[in-house]
Parts: sequence; structure tokens; C-alpha cells
Amino acid sequence: MPDAVVTRHLTKQFANCLALDDVSLRVAEGEMVALLGASGSGKSTLLRHLPGFVTGTRGEVEVLGQTIQQDGRLTSSIRQVRRQIGFVFQQFNLINRLPVITNVLIGQLPQTSWWRSFLMRFSMSQRQQALQALISVGMEQTTWQRASTLSGGQQQRAALARCLVQGARLVLADEPIASLDPESSRKVMELFVMMNRQHNCTVLVSLHQVEFAIRYFPRTIALNAGRVVYDGPSSDLTPALLAELYGSEAHELFTPACQPSPEAASTSAHPASLSFV
Ligand SMILES: Nc1ncnc2c1ncn2[C@@H]1O[C@H](COP(=O)(O)OP(=O)(O)OP(=O)(O)O)[C@@H](O)[C@H]1O
Ligand SMILES: [Mg+2]
Repeated sequence: MPDAVVTRHLTKQFANCLALDDVSLRVAEGEMVALLGASGSGKSTLLRHLPGFVTGTRGEVEVLGQTIQQDGRLTSSIRQVRRQIGFVFQQFNLINRLPVITNVLIGQLPQTSWWRSFLMRFSMSQRQQALQALISVGMEQTTWQRASTLSGGQQQRAALARCLVQGARLVLADEPIASLDPESSRKVMELFVMMNRQHNCTVLVSLHQVEFAIRYFPRTIALNAGRVVYDGPSSDLTPALLAELYGSEAHELFTPACQPSPEAASTSAHPASLSFV
């Protein structure tokens, strides 16, 4: 499989913080990978480098076979590659005053002529595609609702419908379930799985919650203080291993209902013994 994402020695130094420290990783096309880490570990910073929203201090980023940035300089392929990347953020996903269907249609803008984009004029087939995408994420009943009136989980699902309409080959999501209840989180996670399996999207999602990484993602890349501290099967992330990787911050990676007991953290109990949300 060709690579969807490659970073080589990616380093980001902010004024007084080394946010990414020599990060080298590969994600193959068609993979579904969780990016795990406690607060401040560098997850958002890493995700923002992939479409070139942020430039590194040093190192290289390649996305879908194209070099996006090298030693702090963006390349000319960036616009073309960005069209193939879908984004889902924890918030600010949608334009609040517009109806859901228009927010989803915005995924079509890169393929729409400038004057149609300017006037927000979409063809019948584009509208049908957007409606189909809303049906796939179980949101057709909200088609004409203002985005501002959607629940958090519905907003994330609408953002995923937009990625579908866009025909994204790579979906990047930054803590998409951070403010959702367990049931909405589960629905959103299942949609990532659907996008990966049915639409062959490569999916890279940052998470705080290890239970979701284990349940939905075959592979996890874990960051701590800007460094990759683990890259391997999610099922190997035992409480003991997390305690080793994160020390006292390990508790941040469990949802309250799934906090491991101190004994679990000090033994190599398999995480399957944790109760999932
Ligand atoms: N624009 C910035 N200027 C200065 N420091 C920054 C900036 N953006 C991020 N940082 C710092 O870089 C480090 C990594 O931040 P980042 O937002 O990537 O962490 P995170 O893993 O996404 O955390 P969280 O789980 O809280 O979202 C933090 O110490 C943060 O304060
Ligand atoms: Mg973040």
C-alpha cells in the first residue's frame, strides 16, 4: 500500500515549547489510526502540520504521495492535496447560520466553478449527493436545520457527511468526541469506521480516550511531550504500558467510568478487562 501520510524528523519549536520533537511516522493508505496522548502532548500540532496549516521548524511532511512541507517551507502541491483531505475538529466544524445541507455542500466547493461557489449555487446532482451523504450519517431529518441548532454529535456527523461529499481520501479529526456523551461518541466512531471500510478513506483521529482507540482503531500512535512513545497495535495498550509511557498523566487517557484500579495499572492486565463505555 502507498503511504497516505509520512513525516520525517518533523520538529516544531514554539517560542518556549518544543511541541513536536523529531516525529517520524508512516500511515499507509486505507489505515485507521488513533493518535493518543495526554493534554499538551502535541496531537493537534501534528495534525495541523499535515495539511500545512502550520509549518514545522525542521523536517518533512508528505501526504498522499506529495511533499507538503520541507524544513518550514510549504510546497506548491499543497492546494491540490488539501482538496483530498477532510477535517473534523472538536468544534467550529460548521458555519452556524447556514442550513446543514449547505454546510455539507461546502465539501463540493473545490470542484465547483468560482462563480457557482461565490453564489453558493450547487447543481441538482451535487444536492442529491449531499442528501445521500446526510442519509449515510443518519442526519437526513436535519437537512434544512440551521447548523447552530444541532447537538454536538450531530455537528460531527454533518462534518463527516461533508468529508464524504468532498470525496476525501484522508480524513483528519482532532478530538472529534471530546465533548460528546458516550452514545454520540460511539455513533461518530462508527461513522469513521464506515468511511474507512466503505469509502476507503485513510482515517487519523486524535483522542484522549484509550478505550475508543482500542475498540475502533487497529493501530495507535501515542505521543508524549512531542515525541512518539508508542506505535503499534492498539490492543497492546495495557494500563501497565500506559503507566510506563505517561506516568502520573496516564489517568487522563481513561474516561472516568474506565479508570484502571491502581492494581490494574501496576500489573499487565489486558485492557479488555476494562469496562468500555
Ligand atoms: N501557537 C502556539 N504557540 C505556542 N505554543 C503552542 C502553540 N500551539 C501549541 N502550543 C504548545 O504546544 C504543545 C502541544 O500542544 P497541542 O495543542 O498540540 O497539544 P494536544 O496534544 O493537542 O493537547 P490537548 O489534548 O489539550 O488538545 C503545548 O504545550 C502547547 O501549549
Ligand atoms: Mg489538541
